[in-house]
Amino acid sequence: MDAGQRIERTLDIAVAYAEAPGAPPRLAEAIRYAVFPGGHRIRPRLCLAVAAACGDDDPQGAEAAAAAIELLHCASLVHDDLPCFDDAETRRKKPAVHVAFGEPLAVLTGDALIVLAFETLARGAAKRPQRLAALVGLVARAVGSPAGIVAGQAWESEAEVALSNYQQAKTGALFAAATVAGAAAAGATPLPWRLLGECLGEAYQVADDLRDVACRQEEIGKPAGRDATLGRPNAALLLGRGGALDRLKRLSAEAIEVIPTCPGADALRAEIAAQTRLFLPASLAHEFA
Ligand code: IPE
Ligand code: IPE
Ligand code: MG
Ligand code: MG
Repeated sequence: MDAGQRIERTLDIAVAYAEAPGAPPRLAEAIRYAVFPGGHRIRPRLCLAVAAACGDDDPQGAEAAAAAIELLHCASLVHDDLPCFDDAETRRKKPAVHVAFGEPLAVLTGDALIVLAFETLARGAAKRPQRLAALVGLVARAVGSPAGIVAGQAWESEAEVALSNYQQAKTGALFAAATVAGAAAAGATPLPWRLLGECLGEAYQVADDLRDVACRQEEIGKPAGRDATLGRPNAALLLGRGGALDRLKRLSAEAIEVIPTCPGADALRAEIAAQTRLFLPASLAHEFA
């Protein structure tokens, strides 16, 4: 099975737990709707790629970590689209969860996905309790405060924030969780893997900012031009298109350079280089050459 199939299968099994008899049917439907069909699945792919580079001696643990991270990402999208945040009606080329199921169920879907993420991790990594304890801490840090998604979204309610701090918290932290958790799930020391995730996360958010400024909704499957309307810090708006592209290139190159020594370093370098080339959609890709 390739990485993509492993990710979809693990997510499917996780979501099935939320659909067990006794579950409120519309909540169960909304949870599946929020996870499938997926988007880029970039974070779980990164997690599995790092686990593979570190020897992948516990594939089930790595899959659980990867799925937990994707479930947390899906939760963040459901909440991010709510009227009280970005008020976005479209996500992944279909109506946002609150448009399809109403606001109360969207709030609960996000909540349920956060809990499901940690259940999935607990179930899949239970065979190695020491690794599981480390994984819970590493993943939790990426979604809470002061350094995770909750903090990143909360910075939008403050008068001022530095672009880099905002992007590290709302996006970089979960990418960093993907790399450190991939290493930890394979029994490697997680800390040296943090910088790779942080570079990739920031690069990915810069690419997302470029998409927001330069693409049309039909191409990206979610509203475009939202950051200017909402007054959100956006790399392309703050640095200009050229400046944002330079930053994206610099961060992508840095990511390759900071890959720690490990058994599968060469293959991982090649994979990361290929992934970062896909960060920009077709209409902008030529600018990244
Ligand atoms: C969107 O992330 C939100 C950001 C942090 C940029 P993705 O672009 O990974 O969303 P999906 O999962 O592919 O829909
Ligand atoms: C989303 O950031 C980051 C999250 C924590 C969900 P954005 O608001 O920039 O992402 P999109 O453009 O809605 O996907
Ligand atoms: Mg947002
Ligand atoms: Mg948004």
